[in-house]
Amino acid sequence: MTPAEARVRAEIARRGPILFEEVVEIALYDPVGGFYATGGAAGRRGDFLTSPEVGPLFGAVVAAALDRWWAEAACPSRFAVVEAGAGTGALARSILAAQPACSAALRYVLVERSDIQRLGHARHLALEDPAAAFASAPAADEDHHDIAAFPPVGPIVVSMADLPRLPGPVIVLANELLDNLPFGLTERTSDGWAEVRVGITDDRLAEVLVPVVAGALPEARVGARVPTFRAAARWVREARELAGSGGRVVAFDYASTLGGLAARPWTEWVRTYRQHARGGAPLEGLGTQDITCEVPIDALTPSPVVSTQAEWLERNGLDDLVAEARSLWQERAAIGDLAALRARSRVSEALALVDPTGLGAFRVLEWQT
Ligand SMILES: C[S@@+](CC[C@H](N)C(=O)[O-])C[C@H]1O[C@@H](n2cnc3c(N)ncnc32)[C@H](O)[C@@H]1O
Repeated sequence: MTPAEARVRAEIARRGPILFEEVVEIALYDPVGGFYATGGAAGRRGDFLTSPEVGPLFGAVVAAALDRWWAEAACPSRFAVVEAGAGTGALARSILAAQPACSAALRYVLVERSDIQRLGHARHLALEDPAAAFASAPAADEDHHDIAAFPPVGPIVVSMADLPRLPGPVIVLANELLDNLPFGLTERTSDGWAEVRVGITDDRLAEVLVPVVAGALPEARVGARVPTFRAAARWVREARELAGSGGRVVAFDYASTLGGLAARPWTEWVRTYRQHARGGAPLEGLGTQDITCEVPIDALTPSPVVSTQAEWLERNGLDDLVAEARSLWQERAAIGDLAALRARSRVSEALALVDPTGLGAFRVLEWQT
């Protein structure tokens, strides 16, 4: 039995069947046995590949978008960007490597719940103390503080476990965070809706259906399921508060609608991953596999502006970056140096990022606050 399963069984022994969403919370984030506490991660050497882990191109396009938003805000001397669920820090690294025009103003906060992954941030990025990074201007006083050097020149990069409190406006980014927040399941039965709880039957973890008065849920056949997205809805609320007036929240994820999910078998939209392969059933091997759920956009309020990832990347300059890489590759292919190889890999990264059967079909959810 895994440590995460032992923890789930202890909770059930104490309280009776627990919510499916509590099981996901323990399986992913238990500090001892959770998937992300025991080394689970995105990346080629990890368990699944995300857009920032495909290569630096995704971050280069996000850097171009940051420049656009910075320019629209009249190029402020401090420009705060918070990346939630930062994982290994790959997106931060490629944004910084792209050297956006806003770099000197940039205060970049990686927010990552997993201690192991935060340790990785310190290895790969020059991190600063959060308190120093966001200090307000010193008063000109008898100690002759050099207020001319304020604000300090960025980029200033910090890593934290929770969303910070910052004066807005802030840009909040999240790639594949929402699908990884604990979610519940609700099933349509012949008597109405029932929530899925997890108990113990014949000494095995087993689902238990408990009738509930459900809010607005789509028409669905008996046996259909929809996810409940309380944690994601809460995160959107907190992220919008953090973004503040004039800020924005931008979340990239695989997404659908409650009706769309109800019409499909739930085993298609609740997926598990382990070492780049699909894992087992969600209640198997708790803590040894990632558990994710397609995001029902209509479970999030207020409604975001939605585009596909392919549309969003193209709107934010992907084609120019790829054209540049193609001509560099043509010039230097015969030389075959590092610049030529990077250019060639940028072209193939672009194909993966806009692939309509893969990452290109992801949705970009944007809230301007
Ligand atoms: C699927 S991974 C994506 C990582 C990265 N954004 C990427 O695209 O490669 C989701 C990450 O979100 C982190 N996470 C989950 N809940 C979080 C929370 N409430 N705050 C910060 N990070 C969280 C997980 O630990 C995990 O590293």
